[in-house]
Amino acid sequence: MAFYEKDVGTLIDEAKLQARIRELGAEITRDYQGKELTLVCVLKGSTFFAMDLARNIDLPLTLEFLGVSSYQGGTETTGEVRITTDVSKPMAGKHLLVIEDIIDTGLTMGFLLENLRARHPASVKVASLLEKPSRARTKVDIDYKGFVIDDVFVVGYGLDYAEKYRNVPFIGVMKGK
Ligand code: XMP
Ligand code: MG
Repeated sequence: MAFYEKDVGTLIDEAKLQARIRELGAEITRDYQGKELTLVCVLKGSTFFAMDLARNIDLPLTLEFLGVSSYQGGTETTGEVRITTDVSKPMAGKHLLVIEDIIDTGLTMGFLLENLRARHPASVKVASLLEKPSRARTKVDIDYKGFVIDDVFVVGYGLDYAEKYRNVPFIGVMKGK
């Protein structure tokens, strides 16, 4: 029995995740023909999605990693985001695809887009594995979206509960929470 089985139930299984990621990869491959793509992976949650997506993009690409932490006001993010690890290169003139695990209130992505656009990239688009539209507080256009989910707290495939369960191989929900 896997370590997480008594705590985590399945919301989106591995086969469904991988099938959708193949579709997104094919779409991105078509859209960026002839362009040099830079994937900006938002640490830590998006890394599993970003690496599987990258494998399904049939184009030369560059990987960058951006670490952020949101200031919490009570249980919710306040939208004040701090960059804890910045990308390794100037972003000017690059075609950026920002990769997130989940867009919830949208405040984190809103901040990131503003921050990245100020660096004068050639273009900025967003890929997010999950979206919880019921909690949106600011409008973020997601160019490549995996799945829309209800307002449940999800773990696995990069997403954590107190830093645990990121290595659960599917999108799960905490049992009894
Ligand atoms: P906002 O609200 O700024 O938040 O769109 C995005 C960030 O909040 C985290 N988040 C979650 N993490 N399960 C998680 O493990 C969830 O259900 C969840 N909802 C939001 C996540 O870090 C995301 O980057
Ligand atoms: Mg995150």
